[in-house]
Amino acid sequence: MRILLLTHTFNSLTQRLFVDLTAREHEVSVELDINDSVTAEAVTLFRPHLILAPYLRRAIPESVWRNHVCLIVHPGIVGDRGASALDWAILEGETEWGVTVLQAEAVMDAGPIWAAETFAMRTATKSSLYRNEVTEAALRAVLTAIERLPDYHAGRWQPVPLDAANARGRLRQPMKQGDRAIDWEQDDTQTVLRKINAADGFPGVLDSLFGRPCHLYDAHAVPARGVPGRVRMGIVRATRDGAVWIGHVRRADVGPGIKLPTIAAFPEAADLPEHADEAADIHYEETDGVGCLHFDFYNGAMGTAACERLLAAYQQARSRPTRIIVFMGGPDFFSNGLDLNLIEAAVNPADESWRNISAMDDLCQAILETGNHLTVSALQGNAGAGGAFLALAADLVWARNGIILNPHYKNMGNLYGSEYWTYRLPRRVGEDEARKIMQHRLPLGNEEARRLGFIDAHFGRDTADFVAQVKHRAAALVAAPDFAERLAAKRARRAADQAAKPLAQYRAEELAHMQRNFYGFDPSYHVARHHFVHKTPHSWTPRHLARHRELGWTPPQD
Ligand code: COA
Repeated sequence: MRILLLTHTFNSLTQRLFVDLTAREHEVSVELDINDSVTAEAVTLFRPHLILAPYLRRAIPESVWRNHVCLIVHPGIVGDRGASALDWAILEGETEWGVTVLQAEAVMDAGPIWAAETFAMRTATKSSLYRNEVTEAALRAVLTAIERLPDYHAGRWQPVPLDAANARGRLRQPMKQGDRAIDWEQDDTQTVLRKINAADGFPGVLDSLFGRPCHLYDAHAVPARGVPGRVRMGIVRATRDGAVWIGHVRRADVGPGIKLPTIAAFPEAADLPEHADEAADIHYEETDGVGCLHFDFYNGAMGTAACERLLAAYQQARSRPTRIIVFMGGPDFFSNGLDLNLIEAAVNPADESWRNISAMDDLCQAILETGNHLTVSALQGNAGAGGAFLALAADLVWARNGIILNPHYKNMGNLYGSEYWTYRLPRRVGEDEARKIMQHRLPLGNEEARRLGFIDAHFGRDTADFVAQVKHRAAALVAAPDFAERLAAKRARRAADQAAKPLAQYRAEELAHMQRNFYGFDPSYHVARHHFVHKTPHSWTPRHLARHRELGWTPPQD
C-alpha cells in the first residue's frame, strides 16, 4: 500500500510510523504540511492508497479529504477534540488516556472513528507521554485502521460515527497561559508539577524569575526548604507545601528566546545560595559486578559541561572493582549529541561547538580505551546524531523495543560528525551500509538496526522491563565462564585496530571536517542549527523524505 504521511514535522511519532510501516512493506512517503497546494501536489504525485496525518496543526484541504481516505491520529480518547489534548489530560489528572484514529472531515477531529486505543497515564511530562504511551498506542491504532481499509473499500466495514453525547471525551479549547498559571502561594508541589509537565516541550508555563518573564520547563520535586536557591543547572522555588527544582527556562524578555538551563539563562542565579544537588542528572548504581551509569540530560542534549561531568563519573565507575559498565542514558533519550541550544546561545557558537565536540570525543575515547571492563550501551530511549555514535563507543549496544535511531549528522547543515563514527560504524555495518546510513539520513528502527549490526539486540516490553533485562543480561555476562576470554579478545582487537590506525588519527580526520563545518566559509551548519533551535517552520519537504519528489519519480498508474 502507498501511504503518504502528511505531517507538520517529521517528529518522533511520525518517524516511528515511517519505520514500522516501511518494515511492513508499505511504500511510505512524507510530505510536510506547508500549504494546501503543496499537499494537493504531493497527492497527485504519489497517488497514495491512504493519507495518514500523525501530527497536523491545521485542517487537511477539502479537495484532498473528499477524494481520498485521510486518517488523523489524535492523541486523545474517543470524543476528545482540540489542539491541547494531552495538556488537558495531564492538568486534570486523567488516569487513563488514549489515541483515536479518525477520518478527516469538515469539522476538526469529529470524523468517524477507524480505531482507538487507551493507556494508563503515568506521572510524566507531556513529551515523555507522547514519545512512549501515545506513540505505542498510535502505532497499534494505525495498524488496526490499515487492516480495516480493504473491508471499507469492499463495503464490508464502516467507520463508527462519533457519538459526541455519549463519548467520554469532549471538545476542549486550546489551553491558554491563563489555564496553566502557577499560584506559588496556593498551589502544592503536585499541582505545580502537573502544570509544568502539561506544558513541557511546548509552550512551557509563563511565569517569572528574578522579576523577569520566562517559560518554565523541566521541573522536579525536591525536599521542602525555606530559601530559594541554586542547584547546578537549575533553581529551587518554594511551593505551598514543598519546593520544585526548575531545570530549564525560555526567557520572554531578552536573549535568543530559546530553552536553556535556568542558571545559563539567568546569570543572577549565581548570587543565590547553593544547595546540594538533588535533581542529579547523573547517577551510578552497582550490583553483581555490574556498574550502571544513568545520565538523563534534558532532551538528550549533552553540552560541554555535561560531557565533562559524565566523563568524570565514568572514570570513577571504571575505578570500581566491577566487570561491566552499562551506559543507561535516560528513560526518554539515550543522547541527541551536542547541546545545540547552548551552542546557539554562546557568545561564539563556533568556539562552543568545538569545545562541545572535543568534550564529547574525550568521553568516547575513554570508553573506547577501556580495557578492564566490558562496556554496554543500553538505549532506553531514542538516540540521534552524535548521541547514536556515543552508543557505538561501547562494546555492546542493546536497545529497548520500539526506540528510533537517527545515526546521521547531515540534517544539521551537512555536519560531518565525529565521536569516532568513521572507526565504529563501518566495523559494525560494513563500508557500504555505513555510507548508505549517512547519506539516506533516515530514522532506523531497531529490527533494521539489529539486522545491519548497528545494535546487538533489542528487547523489553517497556522501559522498566528493558532496564530489568539489561541488568539481568549484564550479570549473566559477568558470570559467564568465558568472561575473561571475552575481555582478552576485546583488548587484542583494540590493540590490533590501534596498530592499523590510531584512534587519534580517526579523531583528527573527523575534526578536520568539523573545523570546516564550524569555521569554514560555508555557514550551513550555523544556519541549520539556528532554524532547529528556533523551530523555524519548514518551507519545503526534504527530498530524502518525499519519495514522490525524487528525480525520475513518475506517478503510479494503479
Ligand atoms: N540540542 C538541543 N536540543 C535538542 C537536541 C540537541 N542536540 N536534540 C533534540 N533537542 C530538543 C528539540 O529541540 C526538542 O525540544 P523541545 O523540548 O523544545 O520540543 C526536543 O529535544 C525533542 O526533539 P525533537 O526534534 O522534537 O525530537 P524528535 O524525536 O522528533 O527528533 C532528532 C529527534 C534526534 C532527529 C532531532 O531532535 C534532531 O535532529 N536533533 C539534533 C541532533 C543533532 O544534530 N545534534 C548535533 C550534532 S551531534
